[in-house]
Amino acid sequence: MTSSNEKRLAGEAAIAYVEDDSVVGVGTGSTVAFFIDALADIKDRIRGAVSSSEQSTEQLKKHGIEVLDLNAVGPLDLYVDGADECDPHKRLIKGGGAALTREKIVAAASRQFVCIIDSSKQVDVLGNFPLPIEVIPMARSHVARQISKLDGHPVWRDDTVTDNGNWILDVHGWRITDPVALEAELNQIAGVVSVGLFARRGADVVLVGDRKL
Ligand code: 5RP
Repeated sequence: MTSSNEKRLAGEAAIAYVEDDSVVGVGTGSTVAFFIDALADIKDRIRGAVSSSEQSTEQLKKHGIEVLDLNAVGPLDLYVDGADECDPHKRLIKGGGAALTREKIVAAASRQFVCIIDSSKQVDVLGNFPLPIEVIPMARSHVARQISKLDGHPVWRDDTVTDNGNWILDVHGWRITDPVALEAELNQIAGVVSVGLFARRGADVVLVGDRKL
């Protein structure tokens, strides 16, 4: 099966977790785009969605799904999002689409995180996918130097400004055997807005195509 078909199946399978009259947290990316399309079919059963990016907001609104402010409706029952890598403990690398900060906020504010992926995202150890880190622009070089001290190789994604007006460093070369510890350490660096490691708050359910882990 193609990766696109697996993404569509995962997006559609996540609809089973949506409860009537709820507000759904919605992530970002090509897998989530399938989820949003499927959500449109049941839009009369939900109150609306909290979006993690301008991209998802646009698609939700195009389908006539109301986009709500997290401050007004949180905490949420459900957050659905994709990932760039997923390990056997349901810990994730996210941020390939540069939406990691809002994704992390909505995930943290949700009781259940259903992660939807195709099988190419499954890994034994995180780190083959370069780890995205959102930084305050003036701190880019400082953060990069601290990462180099930790034997990471940061590359500035210089064509990207996040929805929050910040920049992204993609860190190559790490084999992340203790993602909880690395997430905590990176969060301490001044100028880091958020880290694309979702380890402390990983996924609760992972759907690989329509297969549940
Ligand atoms: C965006 C993300 C996405 O969930 C991640 O990049 C996966 O994207 P896709 O579903 O297109 O493979 O973290 O910031």
